[in-house]
Amino acid sequence: MKILVVGSGGREHALVWKIRQSPRVTKVFCAPGNGGIAALADCVNIKADDIASLLKFAQDNKIDLTVVGPEVPLVLGIVDVFEKAGLKAFGPSKAAARLEGSKAFAKEFMARHHIPTASYGSFDAIAPAIAFLDKCRFPLVVKADGLAAGKGVIICQDKAGAVAALKSIMSDRVFKDAGKRVVIEEFLYGEEASILAVADGKDFIILESSQDHKRIFDNDQGPNTGGMGAYSPAPVVTPALMAEISETVIRPSIEGMHKDGAPFKGILYAGIMVTAQGPKVLEFNTRFGDPETQAVLPRLKSDIVTMMLASVAGGLSGMELEWDSRACVCVVMAAGGYPGDYSSGKEIRGLGDVPGDAGVFHAGTKKEGGKVVSSGGRVLGVTALGPGITRAIEYAYKAVSVISFDGMQYRKDIGQKALQR
Ligand code: AMP
Ligand code: GLY
Repeated sequence: MKILVVGSGGREHALVWKIRQSPRVTKVFCAPGNGGIAALADCVNIKADDIASLLKFAQDNKIDLTVVGPEVPLVLGIVDVFEKAGLKAFGPSKAAARLEGSKAFAKEFMARHHIPTASYGSFDAIAPAIAFLDKCRFPLVVKADGLAAGKGVIICQDKAGAVAALKSIMSDRVFKDAGKRVVIEEFLYGEEASILAVADGKDFIILESSQDHKRIFDNDQGPNTGGMGAYSPAPVVTPALMAEISETVIRPSIEGMHKDGAPFKGILYAGIMVTAQGPKVLEFNTRFGDPETQAVLPRLKSDIVTMMLASVAGGLSGMELEWDSRACVCVVMAAGGYPGDYSSGKEIRGLGDVPGDAGVFHAGTKKEGGKVVSSGGRVLGVTALGPGITRAIEYAYKAVSVISFDGMQYRKDIGQKALQR
């Protein structure tokens, strides 16, 4: 089979790496890919949101399965376009991707199907949004409705902060049209976990749990990022809690989308806050998480292509996934300045010296005259498996210690929450 992976981050590097292990696969392409992916796949210079060019490439090259990494093409409807042309694409339809593409849609969906989440109001004009604040307790959370590359969520300590957030989103349109509507949400307290399920429209299988580290600095300080590291499994998700999340979140979501006429295929990612009142949904994503994927896929023993084809064809019922019992830790090495304006073009040294028990997924790199240089905010995901989380942390940081580039920054505490349990 010939596979096309769409995207260019660490998630896509991990997907390409895992897809290549399938005996069914003869060739992998990645559009547009990056400096690390180029070692495993033919990188094609087409942007992830250029759906017409991706379709033409898939048709011209007789691609058997297209795997969509990022949210933007999914929300734009890439899966519908491919299916209409008779091509297989792994991921949700445009209608199902609204769970990620519109936070107001997701909140209304959860209310309709009794899925636990923070209480909220949603508004498409600023005056009623500001009036609503008088009924709220602080802190609270103001969210741009649409896609904002993970930046559209603002935690507000008081009314003045919330008014400023509403103005920047709705009046100044700092997230462009994503700010046509906002969701104002109760602040939830607890520990977060990422729960990913693969679905085929009717049936689903939950993958092993993981936890992201969203803030830039150690001890969850500083601004939010795309994710500075991840580990799997997440011990906060006990077997009993996983069963509860399956029954109160994942099952009603898959059944609800089916009932609502938008059956969900692909990866449903529930960002969960484990609160004193039980698990509540912070957000849905409709794709693999980044960097969670880099910590989860090294633990997957089953053939991911078989899983994806079953998702596309509606054949997940009765399928089981096999997992490596070892823990996996992924430490993100980011560019200086990230998540603000960051430096790029920095030569990355030491990649050849990484010990054999670790691996490096490239997130923002490119090849330049025989060298690998940085080209994104998140640059590398340094990943290791270990017998238990302590050893996985040790192996991952040992690998981090041999890599360097100017201005690099990374968190020193990836996995510590697991150790505290
Ligand atoms: P989201 O993109 O909606 O997942 O939000 C990004 C991050 O903001 C989450 O991972 C949480 O850390 C935080 N967050 C979002 N919503 C809430 C909430 N209702 N209460 C507390 N933290 C939140
Ligand atoms: N790690 C968070 C995300 O993929 O959105």
